[in-house]
Amino acid sequence: MLNKVLLFSFLISLVACDSGFSEKEKQEYTTKGKAIAQASFNELNANLMTQMKEGGTAKAVPFCKEEARNILAKLSKEHNAIIKRSSDQLRSCKIEPTIRELEIIEMYKDLKSHNKEINPVIEIDADNNKHFYAPIKIQAKCLTCHGKVNETMSIKTDSIIKSIYPFDIATGYSEGDIRGVWSITFNK
Ligand code: HEC
Repeated sequence: MLNKVLLFSFLISLVACDSGFSEKEKQEYTTKGKAIAQASFNELNANLMTQMKEGGTAKAVPFCKEEARNILAKLSKEHNAIIKRSSDQLRSCKIEPTIRELEIIEMYKDLKSHNKEINPVIEIDADNNKHFYAPIKIQAKCLTCHGKVNETMSIKTDSIIKSIYPFDIATGYSEGDIRGVWSITFNK
């Protein structure tokens, strides 16, 4: 019996070491990460929709180039975290995906292709930084600027985007596709 108890506590300690979080912390940081990602999405989306109403993609695309990362920098300060959007098909050349972000995107795409549930990931890295990752999925309204050219995205918008982002590879998506990840690092 004692052996079993010892073995059990040994196994539990292995599991706890694995993610580096206690169960309570895991819940706490998952909730926190989800709230920050949602607040960030809401703010980017509200700004984008205002620009689209005022001047369509001709206004909204340059706005995103100038302001998307500033908005995230402002929110990062407010939430005491580094808030980043990462992708394996980038438009902005100012975003550098980490190897871990690319691995998680790959994992999410794989889960999606098998119709499996996609959940946030929280983990602690070798430098003791706490990370939260969650999928960014393509919605119908994203297709205006990330869809298939001449199908769900107009040629006009494509040329506006190409003139500002000559190396853009962030098109060709369909609704529900994994566009990238929210990658949030909590400040110590
Ligand atoms: C008006 C056009 C437009 C719409 C609509 C739009 N985006 Fe974007 N998106 C952009 C531009 C422009 C950038 C590059 C911003 C920059 O330079 O920092 C971008 C960048 C991104 C990035 C960062 C990674 C990268 O490739 O630079 C993600 C993630 C993203 N968009 C997801 C979405 C999602 C999800 C939606 C729908 C909810 C959406 N976008 C709707 C224009 C748009």
